[in-house]
Amino acid sequence: MQEQILILDFGSQYTQLIARRVRELNVYCEIHPFNDPPPLTEDIKGVILSGSPCSVSEADAPDVDLSAYRGKVPVLGVCYGAQLMVHKNGGYVQPSTIREYGRARLHEVNDKLDLMKEITVNSQVWMSHGDTISQLPENFDIIASTPSVRVAAYKIQDEQTYGIQFHPEVTHSTEGKIVLRNFVVHICDCSQDWTPKTFIEETVDGLKAQLGEDKVVLGLSGGVDSSVAAMLIHQAIGKNLYCIFVDNGLLRKGEFQQVLDSYKHMGLNVKGVDARAAFYAALEGLTDPEDKRKAIGRTFIEVFDAEAHSIQDVKWLGQGTIYPDVIESVSVKGPSATIKSHHNVGGLPERMKMKVVEPLNTLFKDEVRLVGKTLGIDEAIIGRHPFPGPGLAIRILGDVTAAKVALIQEVDHIFIDGLKKAGLYNEIWQAGAILLPIQSVGVMGDERTYESVVALRAVSSVDGMTADWYHLPYEFMGDISNEIINRVKGVNRVVYDISSKPPATIEWE
Ligand code: XMP
Repeated sequence: MQEQILILDFGSQYTQLIARRVRELNVYCEIHPFNDPPPLTEDIKGVILSGSPCSVSEADAPDVDLSAYRGKVPVLGVCYGAQLMVHKNGGYVQPSTIREYGRARLHEVNDKLDLMKEITVNSQVWMSHGDTISQLPENFDIIASTPSVRVAAYKIQDEQTYGIQFHPEVTHSTEGKIVLRNFVVHICDCSQDWTPKTFIEETVDGLKAQLGEDKVVLGLSGGVDSSVAAMLIHQAIGKNLYCIFVDNGLLRKGEFQQVLDSYKHMGLNVKGVDARAAFYAALEGLTDPEDKRKAIGRTFIEVFDAEAHSIQDVKWLGQGTIYPDVIESVSVKGPSATIKSHHNVGGLPERMKMKVVEPLNTLFKDEVRLVGKTLGIDEAIIGRHPFPGPGLAIRILGDVTAAKVALIQEVDHIFIDGLKKAGLYNEIWQAGAILLPIQSVGVMGDERTYESVVALRAVSSVDGMTADWYHLPYEFMGDISNEIINRVKGVNRVVYDISSKPPATIEWE
């Protein structure tokens, strides 16, 4: 039995962060929407209620019936979750009269044995709420206060039910991790045995039971997710896993062969498919970025489908889907703010008429990396920068030709290789080169040139949703620019992109 903490999501931007903090304690947890709470099962050791952009006093404020959990397992309400329990039990929650966003300090901590164990007086906590708890129900006791928020934390008498007004999951709450540890480990009594190693063992056992002697086909991309998914399935069913790695002609220089070699070295049963011509033909004359994406997605499905059907009796399609792609986002204030745009091969499972197996669909990206490391996957694959499915096609502005691909591959290679040599590659979240659809005048020797401009882009980011341009050292930029112009025929100007996301995006198309 896999012990877990259940997190009920009321739409806070921080819900996933709560999950990550719990998992950092080596305790498995799952996020479920507040309006679809799962029944209490033996594996659920405790429940955390998230924050929310809503106010409990709104007419249609998100609500949940906690009777299935309260008094049976420990419950911790965070911010909105804490206010909701007060509101539902006869207390009062009112709009705050003073701003309660940002840093605050706990000046009283009254419960040294339980949730607030080891929390120091003056500990910095992070507040983010428009409402405040003005009066607690009778059987609720205050266990921490700040100078402006009397009820910063409470406990319900004779029950292991707690509420905290601050956000323990954000790093600005300097002892937030201790509060979560107290709850998860000491109060819920979780055994902290969820590690990459146990994840691998349990997942491989589960895959063996699920797949038996069935065959699985999986498309590798060279990225972390599909590689780790493949290795897990491979450990479960060995040669019955058929991997397909498609060369779409839009990969980085030399990447197809290198990655194919790594996969073979890892023992995977992998077939490399040279489909460059099909992709270039599908892209011919297309200039609109979305048209290019669609053409690439369609061609990939056709190529993959044909390859997969050349294998006899395949029942399953393996995919490297990760947790953030499957968490049902709670939309309590109109349509969800998260716009999922990059589903390149979304139609694949329907078209292939296969069952889908997704061994990573409970993991966050950094957990996938840890599992990959534990599985012994090459660092070159684990530490790889993200690379978009449509590849260089969306870094060549306008129409795509084989010649343009060859040119930008050279530029990209010099840039990425330079970052690696300078020890900057691992500092950067993602980097690449973009071929602009313009030419500019230059002078080389005694001759006037009229050639292409390339842009370099390097960003720091945590999840790709927001990003900042990376402050590359001037010396480095100067050297790389020289090298590109001297070595890549057809380029006479290099520029560096200093836009953040938002308002720009990481890719130019
Ligand atoms: P943007 O450009 O939207 O990119 O800031 C965010 C992240 O997504 C990647 N990206 C894509 N990945 N198919 C993909 O698989 C796509 O069509 C696509 N477009 C952007 C981008 O490289 C960055 O990591």
